[in-house]
Amino acid sequence: MRHLISPMDFSVEELDDLLVLAKDIEDHPQKYAHACDGKKLATCFYEPSTRTRLSFEAAMLNLGGSVLGFSSADSSSAAKGESVSDTIRVISCYADICAMRHPKEGAPLVASLHATIPVINAGDGGHQHPTQTLTDLLTINNLKGRLDNLTIGLCGDLKFGRTVHSLIRALVRYPGIRFLLISPPELRLPDYIREGVLDQLNIPYEEVVRLEEAMPELDILYMTRVQRERFFNEEDYIRMKDYYILNREKMTLAPDDMLILHPLPRVNEISTEIDDDPRAAYFKQAQYGVYVRMALILTLLGIEV
Ligand code: CP
Repeated sequence: MRHLISPMDFSVEELDDLLVLAKDIEDHPQKYAHACDGKKLATCFYEPSTRTRLSFEAAMLNLGGSVLGFSSADSSSAAKGESVSDTIRVISCYADICAMRHPKEGAPLVASLHATIPVINAGDGGHQHPTQTLTDLLTINNLKGRLDNLTIGLCGDLKFGRTVHSLIRALVRYPGIRFLLISPPELRLPDYIREGVLDQLNIPYEEVVRLEEAMPELDILYMTRVQRERFFNEEDYIRMKDYYILNREKMTLAPDDMLILHPLPRVNEISTEIDDDPRAAYFKQAQYGVYVRMALILTLLGIEV
């Protein structure tokens, strides 16, 4: 039995296979319409979500399966003090696979140790968000045609942004990757990733504060929102929240083929005037999230079509 807790749980070859499968699902959805007949996905979300939970549910429904679950800790027995390990033991009796989001780092890992079904980390605190990474890789691969030899600007809340942490871990395994880390000093990438991953693997990167400085060099600009829910102090959040606002004026500095990605939700960091720029790929990215989660469910359940 396999789980997906970190993007490192899949080898580069397995990731490539997953992306090929996701592309085939996009091109031939009917072929997969009954692949999960009789199977059930549990979505156990202890934290709010729109895309991840609903795209998982859409993915299972598209595969002919069914879904059950809860969308907040308050509506589950966590509110009565039940542990994650007890909850997953019970969910294992009701469903064939589980996607779990939790505000505490490591909770889906704990769940995987007590589960008898595959557990997917759908975001754990400020730590990792591996299925967003699968979505990001599929988007880059489909729209850029490659996952290597790219200069990627990661902009915004690099401290708490779990999508950035997971994406870095996945992309460092491809050749020719260079990062521009664009953040205010207070929200810079944590040491355990900057030193523990980038320095350790000799991955080229620069830390910059001004987005304008980075824009002309980028193949991909990955914008993130400031993660209000992870701040201890509301004043700090208010000071940081509009640090970066991507608008038409800044986009004049970007190459014509640069892609703008964002895991969403967006707050103010991308002006809506950018949405019809052909380089804006963030809504397409959300669509790719369904195909890649369909591919992931099939892979973890060991179903071949
Ligand atoms: N990208 C993402 O995780 O969005 P949700 O929080 O809406 O699931």
